[in-house]
Amino acid sequence: MQYVNLAEDIYFLGYNDRRTSLFENIWPIPYGISYNSYLLVDEKIALIDTVERSFIDDYIDSIEEIIGNRKIDYLVINHMEPDHSGALRAIIQKYPEITLVGNKKTFALVESFYKEPENVLMVHDDSVLELGKHRLQFQTIPMVHWPETMVTYEETNKILFSGDAFGSYGTLDGGIFDDEINLDFYEIEVMRYFTNIVGKYCAHTQRAIKKLAPLDIKMIAATHGPVWRTDLNWVLTRYNKWSSYDLDTGVVIVYGSMYGNTQKMAEVIARRLAERGIKNIRVYDASKTHASYIINDVFKYKGFIVGSPAYNNSMFPNVEILLSTIEHMAPKDHYLGIFGNFLWNGGGVKNLKVFAENIKWELVYDPIEEKGALRKENKEHLLSLADAMADKLLG
Ligand code: FEO
Repeated sequence: MQYVNLAEDIYFLGYNDRRTSLFENIWPIPYGISYNSYLLVDEKIALIDTVERSFIDDYIDSIEEIIGNRKIDYLVINHMEPDHSGALRAIIQKYPEITLVGNKKTFALVESFYKEPENVLMVHDDSVLELGKHRLQFQTIPMVHWPETMVTYEETNKILFSGDAFGSYGTLDGGIFDDEINLDFYEIEVMRYFTNIVGKYCAHTQRAIKKLAPLDIKMIAATHGPVWRTDLNWVLTRYNKWSSYDLDTGVVIVYGSMYGNTQKMAEVIARRLAERGIKNIRVYDASKTHASYIINDVFKYKGFIVGSPAYNNSMFPNVEILLSTIEHMAPKDHYLGIFGNFLWNGGGVKNLKVFAENIKWELVYDPIEEKGALRKENKEHLLSLADAMADKLLG
């Protein structure tokens, strides 16, 4: 990708990855992802974060094109995850006198991933680094997304280099800035990046939002996705809503089903919810839809109903994977319903009950377990479950 000016002497160096199928080898990225690094050219030159290692050659070529034979003085490490530190070793080899700028958590990670760094500058909250005309200040925002994560604020142009925060899946297909692109496309990809990657750390995200609030920010330059310079509130209000579990009225129904009986139970619940006036109902087959998308809707809607058949005396494996991912992320303030199916020993509903205990969401109706084809009595229970959920949601 070509480099682009964010402001005088400040460059965006972003690289589009359309080859990787799974980000972190877990999360689907059908529309790819960009890795964004930033270069500030002043009396001193600073690079802010690097890029994923497969782009090293182009990255170093672009840097040379901008700064020629000058040396980079500082590499500011906002975040050490290798999608951003992947070119760190190559940069140190190219500029051996470079000083790595990080906080007290950063350099141990540098050593773990690469080697003990030689030239370091330890910064902490409100530290300032003078580059000449430009001054950088730093704020730690731990766990958004790793313990060492910090942001860098450039005072002259009021640019926040925010790391993963406010980032997005999806490549930048020509447009870089929020006013150059159709944000309808990025709506789901921004949210998926948040829920999939940072979603476990909502409390930390809330703390970060409050901590950064006093800064006068005119531009947000994240390490993935668009640079926000026109409608910063578009992304700020969404981050605030998602990380505070401000959930909409709606229900996610997820089931596993081998031969259709558990699916039929889900359909009965969904229909009754619709009859009760719930308009946001998303029904997912856990074997078909990746957890990445289902979890996104769990962060949108307050109701969650999950069904599983027994499988080898346990839960259906694809439901189990989803629920264990949800348990790790532990989103709060949901209403829960559970149901399932068995033929001999059971194991589906038994383990859904364990999930219910662990996740601590409010169970709106007793667990329902059918044996094979759906019968009248259990159909009535499913309708009652849907009614109980609707009652809770509609207040
Ligand atoms: Fe984009 Fe946590 O790395």
